[in-house]
Amino acid sequence: MRVYCGKDYEQASRIAANFISAQVIMKPDSVLGLATGSTPIGTYEQLIKWYEKGDLDFSAVHSINLDEYRGLTADNDQSYRYFMNTHLFDHINIDKKNTFVPDGTEPDAEKACRDYDEIIRAHGGIDLQILGLGHNGHIGFNEPDSTFCKGTHCVQLTESTISANARFFASMDEVPKEAYTMGIQSIMQAKKIMVIVSGEGKKDIVEKAFLGPITPEVPASVLQLHSDVILVGDEAALAGYHKALQ
Ligand code: GLP
Repeated sequence: MRVYCGKDYEQASRIAANFISAQVIMKPDSVLGLATGSTPIGTYEQLIKWYEKGDLDFSAVHSINLDEYRGLTADNDQSYRYFMNTHLFDHINIDKKNTFVPDGTEPDAEKACRDYDEIIRAHGGIDLQILGLGHNGHIGFNEPDSTFCKGTHCVQLTESTISANARFFASMDEVPKEAYTMGIQSIMQAKKIMVIVSGEGKKDIVEKAFLGPITPEVPASVLQLHSDVILVGDEAALAGYHKALQ
């Protein structure tokens, strides 16, 4: 794994955006695996700036997002589809028909998951997968468990994830308790993976995920088995990782 450290969130976001730019420039019809959460927002803002300057062209790019809350419609401002539209897609020249997010409104969970796996398969997999990192080590919404779940599946979110997400909702009752998420196999089959981390709050889990034992109880630890992973973070998030290596 290669590790890139920016001094702060802004610099880490620029580093991450540079890797995505390089991917799109080298392969204009890349399939990008995209992530939500607060961490990649700075990366997306940087990509928009470079697009506006004329340095990037997303017209042939396809994107496949990691996850979506079950039950939220695309126009709900807390849905991940809404997040992707407002934080990235509305500001670049990607064709929205080529952007995929699990269908949170599909009540038949098996169908929603089967359809999404078929979308991933039909695209020939993912060229560059962007990942954030949950405080409990989740990636996408692959929560700590006793096994790794391979394909897209419906998850019951853990209490820690529900409370971490509560800040975005008016009340606890409105926080979705379930989500559809891409599975560990689809993530691990991506040709390249870039994990973005920021802030002191991620320090311990970064160390645990990338230097600790590989276990489904820390889903991100499986990334240690992938041959092309880049970890991009700011000093605060990488402090524990760097210290452990000294
Ligand atoms: C959510 C998303 C994850 C994301 C995580 C971390 O749970 N499903 O994909 O990585 O949040 O979010 P943040 O970047 O806000 O810490």
